Amino acid sequence: MDVVGKFVLLGANLILSRFIWNYLRPPLKSFPEPFNAKLTNLWRLQVVFKGRCDITHNELHRRHGPAVCIGPNVLSLPDSTLINQVYSTRDPWAKSDMYNVNDSVVSGVRIKNLFSHQDEQWHTNAEQYQERLTGGEQSQNGYGDFLDRYIEAKGKMPDIVDENVVQMYLLSNIVAGSDTTASAICAAVYYVLKNTAVYNRLQEELRGTNLSTPPQWKEARSLPYLDAVMREAMRVHPGVGLLLERIVPRDGLTLSGGRFVPEGTIVGMNPWVVNRDSTVFGSEPDSFKPERWLPAEAEGEDDEAYQTRFSKMKSTDLTFGAGPRACLGRHISQLESYKIVATLFTNFDVELKTPDYEWEVTNSWFVRQKNIPVIIKERKS
Ligand code: HEM
Repeated sequence: MDVVGKFVLLGANLILSRFIWNYLRPPLKSFPEPFNAKLTNLWRLQVVFKGRCDITHNELHRRHGPAVCIGPNVLSLPDSTLINQVYSTRDPWAKSDMYNVNDSVVSGVRIKNLFSHQDEQWHTNAEQYQERLTGGEQSQNGYGDFLDRYIEAKGKMPDIVDENVVQMYLLSNIVAGSDTTASAICAAVYYVLKNTAVYNRLQEELRGTNLSTPPQWKEARSLPYLDAVMREAMRVHPGVGLLLERIVPRDGLTLSGGRFVPEGTIVGMNPWVVNRDSTVFGSEPDSFKPERWLPAEAEGEDDEAYQTRFSKMKSTDLTFGAGPRACLGRHISQLESYKIVATLFTNFDVELKTPDYEWEVTNSWFVRQKNIPVIIKERKS
């Protein structure tokens, strides 16, 4: 055999040994998995690449339970009882390298942002400074322009706020939350149009209330059925659809059945799976039923039982993440989406062009929908 042949053979041997090591490596080997997933990350990649990994993840967990190995070092763990541990506020677990793709490169320099940073101390400092900045005095033009404040901060705290950090703040202002908020609005409109009873009840509530145009936030948020519709749309169709990955810290993680997950393993929960936990959200978790967020009066549910059920659903719903790295834009996003949906259904009669129309959904972290053809008419009376 010539030298090239020997190298090829050696390379093939190394790759094969790596696969075998990945497959047999204790203790992840005690977790169920799709066969190829334990060998390489290619299985994970191709599932995401196909555009609906949320469906695959849900199927896997319905078959194998709440802990499934989906990569040589990756455990999908959509177990609502572990949310406070994996996304702990007291002792935050670091984000995995997956978040690096969200960094930006400005003039050849890689810039981390609030979302992608893996250093929790940096993150806490940046969050506090941003709060101080946005809560500060108004600039000379009287509009409290963000750039003015950032430049001011650069002057006052040059050791922390340098040119790159200013760019990071500006970029976050523009890109953060636009896809996800659009996805939430589309989901609410689509599901309402697909369910005539929901459409009628929502319109009745909105049109029976003397809302301003556009509605004030304090008006929109106090409408119980609108609130139930929005919560349910985001529960069934959360705007983020991959695992929110974290790295298991030094002491590892012991699961309820006694299985051990070692330090350094990547674990995470997919909001599309957690939000379909029927033990928390009730029967038919794939269905859009805003009523699940309201008191079940017909079944004799008293207020105390309702409050307990409601807060359990609220704390389990992973649409906006959980813990110290949960969404910072949640409230602004809810303000936008509640107001838009309320304005639409108060002032217009809307219907799907064809009632049996099915939208196209693609999940590539953000979950986007394509084409919702509707007929929209201004309200007559
Ligand atoms: C329906 C709309 C939205 C959804 C579903 C959503 C979802 C999420 C999720 C799941 C996370 C946590 C990611 C993780 O733990 O890996 C997150 C983080 C974040 N979101 Fe949102 N988001 C929305 C709107 C917004 C808006 C409007 C903004 C900004 C104005 C925003 C800014 C951020 C930021 C800065 C983070 C990083 C927080 C941190 O690491 O401290 N989001 N979002």
